[in-house]
Amino acid sequence: MALDRKIRYGMVGGGPGAFIGDIHRSAAALDGEMALVAGAFSSDPEKSRRQGRALHLNPDRVYDTYEQMAAREADRPDGIDVVSIVTPNVLHHDVACAFIEKGIHVVCDKPMTTTRADAEVLCRRVEEHDVIFALTHNYAGYPLVKQARALVDQGRLGALRKVVVEYPQGWLNRRLEAEGDKQAAWRTDPETAGAGALADIGTHAEHLVRYVTGLRLERLCADVGTVVEGRAVDDDASILARFEGGVRGLLHCSQVSTGEENNLRLRVYGTEAGLDWRQEDPHRLRLLTDLHGDRPQQVYTHGRASLADSVQPFLRTPQGHPEGFIEAFANIYRPVARTLAARKAGDDPPDWADDYPTVQDGARGVHFVETALESSRRQAWVDASYTPPGA
Ligand SMILES: NC(=O)c1ccc[n+]([C@@H]2O[C@H](COP(=O)([O-])OP(=O)(O)OC[C@H]3O[C@@H](n4cnc5c(N)ncnc54)[C@H](O)[C@@H]3O)[C@@H](O)[C@H]2O)c1
Repeated sequence: MALDRKIRYGMVGGGPGAFIGDIHRSAAALDGEMALVAGAFSSDPEKSRRQGRALHLNPDRVYDTYEQMAAREADRPDGIDVVSIVTPNVLHHDVACAFIEKGIHVVCDKPMTTTRADAEVLCRRVEEHDVIFALTHNYAGYPLVKQARALVDQGRLGALRKVVVEYPQGWLNRRLEAEGDKQAAWRTDPETAGAGALADIGTHAEHLVRYVTGLRLERLCADVGTVVEGRAVDDDASILARFEGGVRGLLHCSQVSTGEENNLRLRVYGTEAGLDWRQEDPHRLRLLTDLHGDRPQQVYTHGRASLADSVQPFLRTPQGHPEGFIEAFANIYRPVARTLAARKAGDDPPDWADDYPTVQDGARGVHFVETALESSRRQAWVDASYTPPGA
């Protein structure tokens, strides 16, 4: 029997003026299957209460600290089922542990943690407490990215040979952190962010490759640097990669590429065809046909019945009516909500409901960051293979 209520969730982070908390709230609300009922929105209790009032929450369920929230929500008969963690990176591990230990499921933003050791602790805790852990590598939520994955799966590209992924941004091309920009400040502080561009956007690029191609990294050679003088973390990285089966790769991420917004782009080339997807034009996926054949290039567009069956559960609007960033986030919340609802009702979740990035994806991302930094330090190719606990 279907669950007769919404999935209840709480949020840690996402206080007044924060960026991604608002996006998560919009995404979780989109399908009407989840309700926000609690929060510890800021490290400042007054700001947390202000956010709670703005969201019309019961004041008893707006907390001064996340520790208090985990303890009290776990004791309530109507306590939260799942928590969304949208704080600066360094807090993800401790916040997640506090809720996992109470048996509360987790949606967490990336990078999952600031060290591999912490990431591995999370992998183990998730297994021990049998909770769901979804990591918001939101680009995997775009329908045309899912179509790219389906084309690779169907063998439409032939044997894979080369992957090129790039994520240039330009917003940190000067020391915004010295000008009072709070987001720039924590993102460029090794204590709160871990690493810089590599952790913030490199992990998205690395995950996108793995999600679409299924390829595991084997070796890499990285040139990671800090372009803006006085900055304490990396802001630019160029990485050569070798994936399993000898597939060659190129990964670039940068936050000093002046004028670039969020120009994430993935290209994958096989023996039969290639594909090309860009985040700033997310409704189109180009299938690049072999120059030596007679088939024209193909462009897959959003919302059509011709998209793969695995993509259909993640569409909300028909062709020509664009979906975007928030819907891609909602495509991580949707399978989480369905899985939880099914679990609670004693049903099986639909077969597409395991399509979200996991705690092991998070550990692979953090391992990638540490390996790239090590390679750059040593100015050498290094082993990048890795199997996280529970994989
Ligand atoms: N998936 C994506 O596309 C994406 C995009 C942006 C940010 N992020 C990630 O989301 C996280 C948050 O980033 P942001 O840009 O929203 O940062 P932000 O600085 O805008 O917001 C962080 C929020 O966390 C709150 N906070 C800090 N310490 C806290 C504590 N102890 N308890 C409760 N709340 C606390 C702050 O008050 C603030 O409201 C980061 O991990 C970031 O990497 C992901």
